[in-house]
Amino acid sequence: MIEKINETVSFLKNKTNFTPQYGIILGSGLGNLTSEIDIEHSISYDEIPNFPVSTVKDHSGKLVFGTLSGKKVVAMKGRFHYYEGWSIEEVVFPVRVMKFLGIETLFVSNAAGGMGKQFKVGDLMIITDHINLQPEHPLRGKNDETFGPRFPDMLHAYNPALIEKAQKIADDNNIVCHQGVYVGVQGPTFETTAEYRAFHIMGGDAVGMSTVPEVIIARHMGIEVFGMSVITDLGYPPEAMEDVSHDLVLAAAKNAEPAMTLIIKKLLK
Ligand code: HPA
Repeated sequence: MIEKINETVSFLKNKTNFTPQYGIILGSGLGNLTSEIDIEHSISYDEIPNFPVSTVKDHSGKLVFGTLSGKKVVAMKGRFHYYEGWSIEEVVFPVRVMKFLGIETLFVSNAAGGMGKQFKVGDLMIITDHINLQPEHPLRGKNDETFGPRFPDMLHAYNPALIEKAQKIADDNNIVCHQGVYVGVQGPTFETTAEYRAFHIMGGDAVGMSTVPEVIIARHMGIEVFGMSVITDLGYPPEAMEDVSHDLVLAAAKNAEPAMTLIIKKLLK
């Protein structure tokens, strides 16, 4: 793995001569944040050695290097999901690459199903914690101590100071922004009514098919994490549940995107 990382990192360094301090992963329907970046380099995933190529509609698949709010960032427009068939190592590979490119903090976003009376479609939720229900753990196997410890601590997986600052930014700008626990599942099915109820009882506030593997790998390597969900559909209480489709998820994410973008920009600043 280290050889693959080195190959990819030297390709990107040669091509961009750019050292980002912040990484950003943009979820379903949230890729437009890249239009706010003062772009220096934009590289398609299919040009990057060892990068998987995303198959999901509207996950355009570009690594974007540039400046946002005066900070040097590398943004993934489109991410890799386990349900697409990638191995868990492939899903998290870009996070390892971003670490070796120089990032110290990672911003992750996703579209998620809301579970709770407090949510309306289009609301934002700052992720305060997660529950990992994906079938495979990204750190399973021999541990490389140069990356991080065998048994990483997951207390404060989501940086408390960044959570507090982001909430203040949202409040100051009259943006409805909740805080809650993200449940990470494999997908690709959306949840049944019974599953939404189960995840709610378990302590989850939002559920989605991404993010958790990337956050685990980031924390293992000592990267600080800030995460945000856009609530694109509602799963609990049962009477709030409506039909959901990928197109509805993308449309709801698009509507909420400007508010999320504003928070990330101000937080970077
Ligand atoms: N479940 C899982 N993933 C999702 C959902 C959901 O309800 N909404 C958007 N992504």
